[in-house]
Amino acid sequence: MHFTAIDRVPGDPILGLMESYAKDPSPQKFDLGVGVYKDAQGLTPILRSVKLAEQRLADQQTTKTYIGGHGDAAFGKLINRLVLGADSPLLRERRAGATQTPGGTGALRLSADFIAHSLPGRGVWLSNPTWPIHETIFAKAGLKVSHYPYVGSDNRLDVAAMLATLASVPKGDVVLLHACCHNPTGFDLSQDDWRQVLEIVRERELLPLIDFAYQGFGDGLEQDAWAVRLFAAELPELLITSSCSKNFGLYSDRVGSLIVCAGDAEKLLDVRSQLAFIARNLWSTPPDHGAAVVATILGDAELKALWSEEVEAMRLRIAQLRSGLLEALAPHGLSERFAHIGVQRGMFSYTGLSADQVKELREKHSVYMVNSGRANVAGVDETRLTLLADAIADVCHS
Ligand code: LMR
Repeated sequence: MHFTAIDRVPGDPILGLMESYAKDPSPQKFDLGVGVYKDAQGLTPILRSVKLAEQRLADQQTTKTYIGGHGDAAFGKLINRLVLGADSPLLRERRAGATQTPGGTGALRLSADFIAHSLPGRGVWLSNPTWPIHETIFAKAGLKVSHYPYVGSDNRLDVAAMLATLASVPKGDVVLLHACCHNPTGFDLSQDDWRQVLEIVRERELLPLIDFAYQGFGDGLEQDAWAVRLFAAELPELLITSSCSKNFGLYSDRVGSLIVCAGDAEKLLDVRSQLAFIARNLWSTPPDHGAAVVATILGDAELKALWSEEVEAMRLRIAQLRSGLLEALAPHGLSERFAHIGVQRGMFSYTGLSADQVKELREKHSVYMVNSGRANVAGVDETRLTLLADAIADVCHS
């Protein structure tokens, strides 16, 4: 038999939680696993701006023919402006181009293959910890993956250790940085930290790959782009992976892009030719619908204003959930222990709970979070914060 020697790999550590949660019959269950935003009703709604754009598309779209290798040109132009800023000199100088990808994960996969194919010998440096799929995507592309420290054993951001390791990275290697809302920890660098990272990147001639999956969920749509724009302004070359899964709520439509910033317009065309070739061999051409929705929203002043309000509402709600959870933990004497929840940004909190405590939370209280102790704060509704705090207190005190 051909398949006899094939064994089973463990299920995905994050998506697998969705399945276990769905099967749990408890009416009290909490879904703090996969990074999906939920509203006060516990639903992940389609944004109103998205619905309106979809209605417009349904009326006006005339074809389902393939879109090109780089995807929808209008989408590419508008996403460049969203990420780099409408007045970015890179856009005037034609030094930045977006290649549409199936989600942010597709953009990471495309970057990995591009590095392996066009920049042979370069290692890739990831934060420790990072999103588990970063580890496998780059390793599967045949790249050497190494780590720089990010969070210490005290569950606090350790910038000094990060900078010290980056300062010894071999010249020319690729360093993956999280633009905002670091996944899984929620700890973000300050502007001063970013400037120090930039100096090392420049000094070591590193190629930054900035993963920008949560624009708008940290401090705001423009504010979250600060580091990306600093790097784009200060360095000649840069890779940025952007995702529309969270901020447009287009999770299942798979919309993302790989933005390349190059030294000049001609070099950008060279790099983009390689990306189109690699993408053709991965997924041929990207899916159209979600990117057409994004282009419709960003290309229309009214829809864009509505969308910005909706993103801001999600952001503010997540911030409120963070402070609400802290308040609910206070009567248990846990304010200090979990103070970091108020400092972290975006959906995720690296709670500092151990794998055993996470297991106990799941088995005893039907609270689902990633084994690393990562909780999706956006997955809880405010009326149940006390219940969640009681469960956390139970495993902390047992
Ligand atoms: C997460 O980390 O939960 C999200 O980025 C969703 C995913 O694909 O893992």
